Amino acid sequence: MNRIILGIETSCDDTSIAIMKNGKLLSNITFTPNNINKKYGGIVPELSARFHCEYIDKAFWQCIKKAKIKISDITHVAYTSEPGLAGSLHIGKIFANQMAMLLNLKPMKINHNIAHIFSYFIDHNFKKDFFPFLALIVSGGNTFIALVFDFDNIKILNQTVDDAVGEVLDKIGRALKLPYPGGKSIDSIFTNRKNINLFKHLPANNKFSFAGLKTRILNIIIQKKYSKSTIASSALKWVITELKMKLSYYLSKFPLVTSIIIGGGVSANKQLRKSLQTLKKIKCFFPTKTFANDNAAMIAKLADLKIINCKSKNAL
Ligand code: KG4
Repeated sequence: MNRIILGIETSCDDTSIAIMKNGKLLSNITFTPNNINKKYGGIVPELSARFHCEYIDKAFWQCIKKAKIKISDITHVAYTSEPGLAGSLHIGKIFANQMAMLLNLKPMKINHNIAHIFSYFIDHNFKKDFFPFLALIVSGGNTFIALVFDFDNIKILNQTVDDAVGEVLDKIGRALKLPYPGGKSIDSIFTNRKNINLFKHLPANNKFSFAGLKTRILNIIIQKKYSKSTIASSALKWVITELKMKLSYYLSKFPLVTSIIIGGGVSANKQLRKSLQTLKKIKCFFPTKTFANDNAAMIAKLADLKIINCKSKNAL
């Protein structure tokens, strides 16, 4: 029997719907409220929830049309159940429950962060011998390193105690008056030439923390001594060194691990991609750039991988 999965992602500001047939992505439609976010310099949770209400239907119909399927062909409904903004998650849940009721199916709850971990496999073959691997998730709302033994056996090794990497880059971008989102803008003006020596990195076994970087950069901006690109590049370099130091630390603790999978919006960053490739004896796998940011294809993919690989009903 065909597996035709409807994926629904509304954890933050992006409204995304995907259709996947037997593991192959047929369509993935995402609407992003960039105009709204730009106006406020960031995401406003209530406005994101209203955006989902307005666009979820549109995304769904466009997706069905592009996938060239009938609604009655859908065999599974999977949606992001956590973590995320309460109002945003709620819209996705209501939509998923209604679709599942209509089709007489039980909706599958998918964890957004775990879906980011497996987003590399949307368009790359998955093999069980990938396990165990390290996952680095760097997005607007989350920053963590995890040791992944299986789909449901994931140990978080380190997590930010304050801002996420994307969040801090967006805030620095806003302070520098760069176009929203700051992370993407900083990537586009990055230069390796002149860099400011910011401050020492704490020992690698400490928790991630990025609030100090934000304050340091704000103080540097006030001094008006450096160009935007020098400040932005120095901040990005500091972040990348921090990520690399922590990854090296965990790689030395878990010598059996030979690969790292990176995910989340910041994983689209060119410098990060370049820099992590220099880690010795380790293979780094990055998602295709379209699937680095929030998307419903990764929700459908994780649902599909679980359907095929997890025998236990509890896993679904
Ligand atoms: O995963 P994502 O789409 O959703 C949230 O968790 O919100 O990540 C969005 C984040 C934003 O902070 C954005 O600035 C960052 O990803 N981002 C980037 C790049 N493209 C998007 N950061 C650095 N370099 C990029 N090329």
